[in-house]
Amino acid sequence: MSQPTKTHSPTIGVFDSGFGGLTVLRSLLPLIPGAHYIYLGDTARLPYGSKSHETIARYAVSSAKFLHEQGAELLVIACNTATAMALPEIQQSLPIPVIGVVQPGAHAALATGKHLDPSQDRVPHLRDGLIVAKVGEAPPSNAAHHVLVLATSATVQSHAYTHALNALGLEASEKACPLLVPLVEEGWTNHPVTDEVLKIYLTEALTSAPAAQTLLLGCTHYPLLEPAIRRTLAAIGHPLTIIDSADATARATAALVAQHFPSLDTTRKPTYIFYATDSIEKFQHLGSSFLGQPVAEVNLIDLGG
Ligand code: DGL
Repeated sequence: MSQPTKTHSPTIGVFDSGFGGLTVLRSLLPLIPGAHYIYLGDTARLPYGSKSHETIARYAVSSAKFLHEQGAELLVIACNTATAMALPEIQQSLPIPVIGVVQPGAHAALATGKHLDPSQDRVPHLRDGLIVAKVGEAPPSNAAHHVLVLATSATVQSHAYTHALNALGLEASEKACPLLVPLVEEGWTNHPVTDEVLKIYLTEALTSAPAAQTLLLGCTHYPLLEPAIRRTLAAIGHPLTIIDSADATARATAALVAQHFPSLDTTRKPTYIFYATDSIEKFQHLGSSFLGQPVAEVNLIDLGG
């Protein structure tokens, strides 16, 4: 008689500079229910988006190592800034698979471009849920599709999104929006001041990139501003298709989990544990709006400066 296959519930670490990465965890839960999740929000050292490459890499690597020490068998860097600035450093410092949000976000933009123009239906090569170009092969020919990326100053300075989008044959423009994270942190997601700030940023960005068709939200906080962004785009007469990388990252992570943990127990309900490096109350309060459900118990940890 054949033995039943032994199932495994992998432990997935999810890291962000704050609670914005909970939008990625929110997308992961229905796709990979049979996992145990450890989420770390490095809230004491947030924002990462205005800091230097060295500082971001140091913070991100120490946070990633903490999650590995807690038992993470696979790590999702849910922070755009940490992915853009330090993905190679994080990958080199851990012996487990690590995935970021930039490549999946670029892939989502490519899929949107095909939707806007179905004649552009070449499929990129995927490995570990990431886009891989074959040496000597020309990128897909949908260069007419122009993606405008909104992100933190550090992410824009890295040009990680432009590189990832260009590698897929997409045109890209980037706009740093440093005031948006503080406005979301303040809870001003539906506020006239935020609408005014968005109007200035989007008008400037679209003056430089009038051909943009897709708006990629390249920061964990921006999905919470989507209604305000939509409203502002309508007001300035420039509607765009809006995408974010949370869902695309969750799908790429599911592919990576299927590859590394083929005996995943899909009947199990997800379990999770939250860690933050600053105010537990603020994490619980703001985190709930990012996760879409109450964030009950949060553990305070100290990762130093
Ligand atoms: N998590 C960051 C990102 O996605 C935004 C917040 C910060 O600047 O730390 O870029």
